[in-house]
Amino acid sequence: MENWHTELALTFHEETKHSYESVYRSRHFLDWANQPQPFKRYLGLEAIPLPADLPMTRMPALLALSPPSEMAVTTSVPTLHDLAYVLFYAAGVTKRRFYPGHGEMLFRAAACAGALYHIDLYLSVGDVPGLQAGLYHFDPHDFALRQLRQGDYRRVLVEASGDDPALQEAPAIVVGSDTFWRNAWKYRARAYRHSFWDAGTVLANLLAAARARTLPTHLTLGFADALVNALLDVDTDREVALFLVGLGTGAPLPAAAPPVQPLHLQVAPLSREEFDYPAIRIIHAASSLESPEDAAEWRGVISEAPLPPVTGEMFPLCPDPAGSLPSAALEDVIRRRGSTRRFSHQSLSLVQLSNMLTRATQPIPADCLTASGRRLNDLYLIVNAVEGLPSGAYVFHPQSPALELLCAGDFRRQAGELALGQELAADASVAVFCLCDVLALLEHFGNRGYRVAQLEGGILGGRMYLAAYAQGFGATGLTFFDDDVTAFFSPHAADKSVMFLIALGYTARR
Ligand SMILES: Cc1cc2nc3c(=O)[nH]c(=O)nc-3n(C[C@H](O)[C@H](O)[C@H](O)COP(=O)(O)O)c2cc1C
Repeated sequence: MENWHTELALTFHEETKHSYESVYRSRHFLDWANQPQPFKRYLGLEAIPLPADLPMTRMPALLALSPPSEMAVTTSVPTLHDLAYVLFYAAGVTKRRFYPGHGEMLFRAAACAGALYHIDLYLSVGDVPGLQAGLYHFDPHDFALRQLRQGDYRRVLVEASGDDPALQEAPAIVVGSDTFWRNAWKYRARAYRHSFWDAGTVLANLLAAARARTLPTHLTLGFADALVNALLDVDTDREVALFLVGLGTGAPLPAAAPPVQPLHLQVAPLSREEFDYPAIRIIHAASSLESPEDAAEWRGVISEAPLPPVTGEMFPLCPDPAGSLPSAALEDVIRRRGSTRRFSHQSLSLVQLSNMLTRATQPIPADCLTASGRRLNDLYLIVNAVEGLPSGAYVFHPQSPALELLCAGDFRRQAGELALGQELAADASVAVFCLCDVLALLEHFGNRGYRVAQLEGGILGGRMYLAAYAQGFGATGLTFFDDDVTAFFSPHAADKSVMFLIALGYTARR
């Protein structure tokens, strides 16, 4: 199985790093006339409108970041309204803006590199109240489902996962996919990293939205890729499944699923022409699992990798207790969310930063991450303006929780340089870098571990977006010069690679 030829993931990682040379010598330009559509549109299928009168839970967004294990399950089988709620707050259209010369832009619930929106959601359900058993595609453009297959196909997904026990009785399973060209148009082969970053921000919202509806969730990343892709009936050179999420519980699978036949459905073209980036197809094939048995064997968690011994001054964090978190409701936070385009230099309080770090790092309910919240990524920070913290470089110790000062100093200029020369990171109050020991990860998970680490980075980033807006400040994901970030945080971060960068702070008034 190619999954264990881990030199393939390492090659992809090395070849898609940003360096001064790769960025400033690049001849790539954006062919605006050939920009892909940000929606997958099936032709000739009846739209099943989703209910627009979505329930308001008013659950504090910060509380909605808690893992499902900490909640009393009150909804075991989602209704159509629950599903509409989860889909809307994960990937719905939340804002419309008109740009002269460009037309109307539809912004979504979750942040997405380049606003190219290349992640699609599908839904496989048994009979749930208000929706017939079937496989559906979610189209945020008209907030509707389209039925691709009639019948209960959940067993196909559960079998593909090697019978992941936590997926077995989920009444609804969301499948997230990526269409490479929709992001590669701008970012070329590096878009494969964005597959997971942008899927991660969608997942951060999706998990929080399900939590707000008291629906248990479970994320499955180990599955036989070909079986899931065949169910979606996608052309795998262009579009592939990335994740499965079980929603709800207590709905046993039918004895058998209907046969999976090709669908021959028509889809609107994305652009005049599509370009292929072979490096994407190679790393995706190399991180694919071939059979349900492979998926079952792959599933499992990586053992604890402690941070290096503490040598710097420790600054304990002081998050609000779960009962008195800021009250901004998840619905309002997601509707208000948007990437900050300019930061003021106003300081964050230590409580705000503490809430952000501790809430964003709540355990992710997944087949390959521990319930205790052990992550593959460690969080490194450049603190520019936080009350009670000297400016400098830090590493986050989640258990304490505390920040260890690695090096004191004013690193605004360096933060901007590391973020590909973007002032946003220099002006922000804090820049948080998710870093991961890729070699150790590949040894344990094979190439598929690369997907997991990038996705975890995206989920952490997506949660930090929510935690920022829940506390009245802003955030933006950013790209970065890979090796320069590692060098900046070394020797502490030697051998680690950046999986996500997010800048946080108050928005500057224009
Ligand atoms: C993974 C990721 C990387 C991003 N990188 C950048 C970046 O390098 N520079 C930037 O200005 N914005 C960046 N953004 C912000 C996106 O441009 C923004 O999310 C998108 O335009 C959609 O707008 P919204 O977040 O306001 O809804 C990034 C967002 C994500 C999720």
